[in-house]
Amino acid sequence: MRKIKIFDTTLRDGEQSPGCSMNLSEKIVMAKQLDKLGVDIIEAGFAIASPMDFKSVQAIAGAASNCVIASLARCNKLDIDTAWEAVKEAAKPRIHVFIATSDVHMQYKLRMSREEVLKTISEMTAYAKSKCDDIEFSAEDASRSDKEFLAQAFSNAIAAGATTINVPDTVGYSTPQEMAELITYLKEHVKGIENVDISVHCHNDLGMGVANSLACVKAGATQVECTVNGIGERAGNSSLEEIAMALKTRRDFYEADTNINTREIYKSSRLLSNITGVPIAPTKPIVGANAFAHEAGIHQHGMITNAQTYEIMNPDEIGVPHRALVLGKHSGKHALRERLESMGYEIPDEELEDIFMRFKKLADQKKTITSSDLEALTLYRSKITKSEEGISSPSCQLISHSITSGSNIPKISYVKIKRADNVMEGVESGAGPLDAAFKAINKMLGIDTRLEDFSIRAVTEGEDSIGEAVVKISSSATGETYTGTGISTDIVEASLQAYLSGINKMFEAGE
Ligand code: KIV
Ligand code: ZN
Repeated sequence: MRKIKIFDTTLRDGEQSPGCSMNLSEKIVMAKQLDKLGVDIIEAGFAIASPMDFKSVQAIAGAASNCVIASLARCNKLDIDTAWEAVKEAAKPRIHVFIATSDVHMQYKLRMSREEVLKTISEMTAYAKSKCDDIEFSAEDASRSDKEFLAQAFSNAIAAGATTINVPDTVGYSTPQEMAELITYLKEHVKGIENVDISVHCHNDLGMGVANSLACVKAGATQVECTVNGIGERAGNSSLEEIAMALKTRRDFYEADTNINTREIYKSSRLLSNITGVPIAPTKPIVGANAFAHEAGIHQHGMITNAQTYEIMNPDEIGVPHRALVLGKHSGKHALRERLESMGYEIPDEELEDIFMRFKKLADQKKTITSSDLEALTLYRSKITKSEEGISSPSCQLISHSITSGSNIPKISYVKIKRADNVMEGVESGAGPLDAAFKAINKMLGIDTRLEDFSIRAVTEGEDSIGEAVVKISSSATGETYTGTGISTDIVEASLQAYLSGINKMFEAGE
């Protein structure tokens, strides 16, 4: 079995996709989960992009202990110096340098000749190597580059010290056969390629990201770059869970394996969706709600007789929790801990206390608590509370609220909130009760925001299920957007919590 390295770029390429931005503490929570998932490399960010990006790469370098931590850098000294400063404290640091090699990029974006690009690759790879042993070189838009020139570019990078060469299908243009042929060509024409890792980085514009990556593995690639839930620029990147499960399920065909602990896949996917507020399509392979649902009678009959009739993977392998009824109103902390552990959540004592309080509150509102209720409470805790722990400015909390709404009557909301020791109350009217409540909150805090998006959905089962609200606001002062999430069996409360969580992130960002 060949071991294929998994290079996760959820926190860099993934985070670049609209609606997927994360704050510092959310990135750390996600990085720790990626470490647990068993990825080999975490691309923690693009350190030069902003002071916040730098800070998060540096924080992740200190937080994730098992894997290599990489920062992206363009081929110039300032980018490389900044990337190195950000990753140098990691147990295993990597600098990932890139430059475009396709004619269209070189002519219109870089305004550089082929000779200039080759010279820059040699000089900047060597410069990065003078700081860090582990150097990845990417030829952006490799799949649309002239093959001979591309082979020369990679040969130069290897001669200057690159330990991994990456072949991106930057615009998701290629097909599996073309990508496989490109890897075969490079294996034959790049000098020193036998001594380095061959990586692929496929985007999903034509829906072929995963197929392209797998074709490259078959042709000899030793590293795959991907993201959890396939998030990324435009139509996204190759999805980590699909790559890992395809290699595991079709080991007979690919004769390759990864270090991924597949039982952590479901949790990683849910955590990311929870943090970003971007839902997972029900039909998404591996992690979608319908991925293991069998609706048709003939399928259900087959499944009862022998699961292998219609199931090529066991949901247990992915860590999908059993939807059994688990706890009730009288269950204690010990039972809660045991249930959470059986679902794969190891919770430190101080966090368990908080989850237990939320559990008790929920148990007063719901007849029975299922594993999906517990999952919602735990994910919410790791996202909201942890993300607010690092806030230097005091966060706002909802104390109480009430609404008046109905046909042909004014929609009025009363909201009471607390910021530090300051308790505030406000009443407003609006187009609907939430509009009124959001206006009241803005007035109390003296802020001006725009509501960009709002959604609410049941995240657990039953009439008394938990509703999860996701609110996206933008600051009128800067135009920056912030996503907040809230959960409750009361959808108005969930919405107000989500709104305040978005505002807290805005404050955290220094607004
Ligand atoms: O898609 C791409 O080409 C990239 C590179 C920077 C690796 O993300
Ligand atoms: Zn990319």
